[in-house]
Amino acid sequence: MPLTDAPRDLLALATRLALEAGVELLGRQAGLSVEQAQTKSSGTDPVSAADRASERLIVTGLAAERPKDGVLGEEGARTASVSGLTWVIDPLDGTVNYLYGRPDWCVSIAVEDGEGALAGVVHQPTTGITWSAVRGAGATRDGRPLQLRTSRGLAEALVATGFSYLADRRAEQAEYLGRVLPGVRDLRRGGSAALDLCSVADGTADAYYEHVIQPWDVAAGALIAREAGATTVGGPGTPLPGGLLAAPAGLAEALLGLLDPSRKRVA
Ligand code: IPD
Ligand code: CA
Ligand code: CA
Repeated sequence: MPLTDAPRDLLALATRLALEAGVELLGRQAGLSVEQAQTKSSGTDPVSAADRASERLIVTGLAAERPKDGVLGEEGARTASVSGLTWVIDPLDGTVNYLYGRPDWCVSIAVEDGEGALAGVVHQPTTGITWSAVRGAGATRDGRPLQLRTSRGLAEALVATGFSYLADRRAEQAEYLGRVLPGVRDLRRGGSAALDLCSVADGTADAYYEHVIQPWDVAAGALIAREAGATTVGGPGTPLPGGLLAAPAGLAEALLGLLDPSRKRVA
């Protein structure tokens, strides 16, 4: 029976495919190393057979259930949308961690309409944890509702961030880092933007920012963070035109003040 456009049905499909992709990725991890991977934007930006197999599995599943929807996948899947809905997929976020045998990697799937992300799921196969959200209906971690309660001040904030694969961009990111690091509790570089955003949503970090980020890295995670109560700032016309910041509102403003010293400091 074909699925309806109800966000809950779309989320159920995304969740099923993320879990299936997770099984596929777990099965391949032991056999892969960073030396076997090919590279993309730079010599340290790997893409493995596992990234491609995961994307294939997800795209095939979507085509079977949602043939009129568009697809934007990191590893090249591109289908124009007829229905008005588009799936944005990072089939393996945290590829470097995956290829080094580290646990912090995930599958990220979101579905967007004309107003942005409508539903999204981030699944971490090594722990079995699944975060998800539907726009306007809240976020959950393994089915339990998420709601940010505390908003720490800047000096007490644990801030997750990430870096580009390109050396020039990293040099710029190091400048931002030099301003942020002295002003916060500490920084974390986990290696998966999607998991960083989920950590803001479930309170295992206070904030996340990254200066250059792609839609598939953040489509699901940003929705999950927002639905848990975080403010997100990023994209054209914002102080982070190519990036994203997620934090409780007061902390977001304070962090923007550190990232852009021309901005008025509020905390
Ligand atoms: C990367 C991770 C990383 C972030 C990079 C992303 P990938 O995605 O999310 O944490 O800092 O900007 O490109 O390459 O592992 O899918
Ligand atoms: Ca990614
Ligand atoms: Ca990826």
